[in-house]
Amino acid sequence: MSDVKAEEQVSALEALRAGTSSNHATLDASLDLMRDDYRPEEYLRTLAAFYGFVAAWEAQVLPQAVEAGLSLQAQAGKLRQDLEALGVDADLLPLASGDALPDTHTRAGLYGSSYVMIGSRLGARIIGPRLMKHFNIDENSGCAYFGGDIEATGPAWRLFRQQLEAALQPHEHAVAVAAARATFSRFHQWLVSHGAARAAQPV
Ligand code: HEM
Repeated sequence: MSDVKAEEQVSALEALRAGTSSNHATLDASLDLMRDDYRPEEYLRTLAAFYGFVAAWEAQVLPQAVEAGLSLQAQAGKLRQDLEALGVDADLLPLASGDALPDTHTRAGLYGSSYVMIGSRLGARIIGPRLMKHFNIDENSGCAYFGGDIEATGPAWRLFRQQLEAALQPHEHAVAVAAARATFSRFHQWLVSHGAARAAQPV
């Protein structure tokens, strides 16, 4: 009985945070977005690799999200806009498919995976302004994904948190956390295999 109570006190967000904090730290440390000598060609590679994963993930997840009553703001269009502003045709880029994407077919899996991708917008609030300054660009000249529409991030995150807590029961947290961890690791693998992140360092 006391175990059940203890489990109920952990919110879905707390479970997801605790279950993925090491994944976030690993991915964050493998990206060079904040490096002082970050080069334009590296940024282009990052945008292209992000596009390949984000566009494919959104194509998979958006119809499921509509069905599950989960609000998701698609971000792939901003990546396309940035790539076009920097002279790259997004239609020619490889898209993640099959096992390169996490399994989101359960409601808990959908929410867990969305936690990662919606949560990634929080980091953009720090990364965007820095990239704009570093490359002297703005949301119309190559920094729409990381730097554009930043004021929408807080409200979108608050709405997601409400929907998450309303949607998931404590017994579903483990499935959500597994999907969130898989999302971090599949995204990381995709970025590594497209030259946009370093492989995780063994500890
Ligand atoms: C250089 C890269 C990154 C940096 C510096 C960074 C930084 C941050 C920061 C500062 C926050 C907390 C923001 C706040 O509380 O307002 C955050 C949250 C988060 N980030 Fe990142 N991030 C990076 C990349 C990523 C990536 C690539 C993903 C996922 C694909 C990601 C997923 C998340 C998630 C899920 C949260 C929400 C954590 C929570 O509050 O539960 N981040 N990030």
